[in-house]
Amino acid sequence: MVKSSPKPADMSDALLAWYDVHARDLPWRIPPASLRGGQRPDPYRIWLSEVMLQQTTVAAVKDYFTRFTARWPRIEDLAAAEDGEVMGEWAGLGYYARARNLLKCARVVTADHGGQFPDDHAALLKLPGIGPYTAAAISAIAFDAQQTVLDGNVERVMARLYDIHKPLPAAKPELMARAAALTPPQRCGDYAQAVMDLGATICTPKSPACGICPWRDPCAARKAGSAAQLPKKTPKKPKPVRLGVAYIGRRADGAYLLERRPDTGLLGGMLGWPGAPWGEIFAQAPPAQADWRALPEEARHTFTHFHLRLAVQVADLPMDAAPEQGEFVAAHDFRPSDLPTVMRKAFDLAQGAFADRLSLGRLSDRNG
Ligand code: ADE
Repeated sequence: MVKSSPKPADMSDALLAWYDVHARDLPWRIPPASLRGGQRPDPYRIWLSEVMLQQTTVAAVKDYFTRFTARWPRIEDLAAAEDGEVMGEWAGLGYYARARNLLKCARVVTADHGGQFPDDHAALLKLPGIGPYTAAAISAIAFDAQQTVLDGNVERVMARLYDIHKPLPAAKPELMARAAALTPPQRCGDYAQAVMDLGATICTPKSPACGICPWRDPCAARKAGSAAQLPKKTPKKPKPVRLGVAYIGRRADGAYLLERRPDTGLLGGMLGWPGAPWGEIFAQAPPAQADWRALPEEARHTFTHFHLRLAVQVADLPMDAAPEQGEFVAAHDFRPSDLPTVMRKAFDLAQGAFADRLSLGRLSDRNG
């Protein structure tokens, strides 16, 4: 006898029963409906977490989320923050346009919506930095609306459940249609997070734990033995390499010469070391006259569309230096953690060099 395929309602019930027991405890979450009493999700925390989680792993986001919400517990607090403070707190998370839009969005919600996020998908989509994925996630998780949330985890689960071999990203519409057909009308927030958790903890990219999966019976890829090869992905084009020079200048009082990058473009709004735009050569552009020394090691960093090789030059700058580019940031105002990762890597190399110079200086003093 051929088994009929399970009804969507039975599938979502099975997954929700699994989630009741196995939901991950994450800083922005409240427990599943059966355990949360009357507690309701806070749309501010859901929005903040979803923006942070775009292109970024749960593990990387946790501490940032905790720091942000300790510093700015309500959306009005965030809206009132200075741009530089928010960019500094975001430093290291990457995709800095998210932080600029985050601040814009907090200010619009505070000024135009009385500090309350709108509860419908169309209105959410009009807010800065909120695209279809984030609008669906906020309306499902914060407002229990029947919206389908398709992130990388959910794509993998759907590709396996229906044994879809068409590669990503071309397979997205089909995966979305499959995911939407399973989305139940109730407990929508729990369900959205349950599919993500299933992908993150059981239906993992390598060695999925099919034996303990609540969807093991209906899973087509498990039957076909193809789960571990799915989803297929269209190979990406190799990334080009760009070259640049970072100039790290320090005055005798410990102040560093830094510049805030323009709001638009890569690393927009972030602090960084002066230098010329990155390109096909290591373009020299010292921001002040000094005895610049090239470090033997480069800082390397990979962005979405290219690899960067950043040569680093360091110099001790005179107290009366009048730089053409950037501004001095006093030692007590400078926090390396405010730098985006690539600038932080350059700084870590330079710090070694400054420290070496001090100890070399002492050595040569001793030698006469
Ligand atoms: N990835 C994106 N949104 C998420 C969420 N709410 N929980 C876990 N992982 C996620």
